[in-house]
Amino acid sequence: MNIPYKLYNTDCREVMQTLQGISAVITDPPYGIDLSNHGAFVGDFSVIGDKDLEIANYVIEWCSKEKLNTAMFCSPDKPYEGKWNSRLVWYKRGRGVGGDWERCWLRDWEMILVNAVKPIKKKETSVLDFSPASCEFHKCEKPVSLMSYLIQQLSSEGDIIFDPFMGSGSTGVAALQTGRRFIGCELSQEHFATAEKRMKQAALQPSFFHVAQQTLAPDAGKAAAQNTLFE
Ligand SMILES: C[S@@+](CC[C@H](N)C(=O)[O-])C[C@H]1O[C@@H](n2cnc3c(N)ncnc32)[C@H](O)[C@@H]1O
Repeated sequence: MNIPYKLYNTDCREVMQTLQGISAVITDPPYGIDLSNHGAFVGDFSVIGDKDLEIANYVIEWCSKEKLNTAMFCSPDKPYEGKWNSRLVWYKRGRGVGGDWERCWLRDWEMILVNAVKPIKKKETSVLDFSPASCEFHKCEKPVSLMSYLIQQLSSEGDIIFDPFMGSGSTGVAALQTGRRFIGCELSQEHFATAEKRMKQAALQPSFFHVAQQTLAPDAGKAAAQNTLFE
């Protein structure tokens, strides 16, 4: 059986130039805010590539050149420049850290910038109310339920979702659970190993067999080229 996902333990820039047939990029890049030196955090919060927006900007430019539906999480303190047609608020249900404890409101929301070049599935509120992830897999882990919602709004079943910064693989798990195929990159060996494990686990769930079936019986044309990505 063809496995409808492919994971790369490498810098996403090495992979991106070879990709074809991607439908949407749904990703949570390093925010460029130097999280490890960001005030109220205790412990190691360093994220590779988080000193500036260089890597996020590289991906934004590529998505725009490739004309892809794109959703990127970002820090409200440092939103990415570029062409965005929706600015979503992820309300984290009263949970959030950072900021001066006595002078700042609770930082209980994050921003998701979207550029939908193809129609979205449903016109809905821009305020997304989802509980945060438990962060057992990654310190910046995003909830699978929220990733599934974004994937469903921006793509169709059988499509290929690409996450250049997959961390522990939350987007990939959501892609399999919603009947999509997935390509993901992660530079850190530790996070890559976690993502691999989570994807294998997700592939054991019944919804996976539905996705695999689509890989075995592709539509004509474009899908044939797409399938070479998974060989
Ligand atoms: C904010 S985290 C993503 C967390 C993810 N959403 C999750 O739920 O686990 C960003 C990830 O991008 C990875 N990263 C940074 N630069 C990268 C690059 N050039 N190529 C691939 N991965 C990179 C980091 O190691 C980090 O794990």
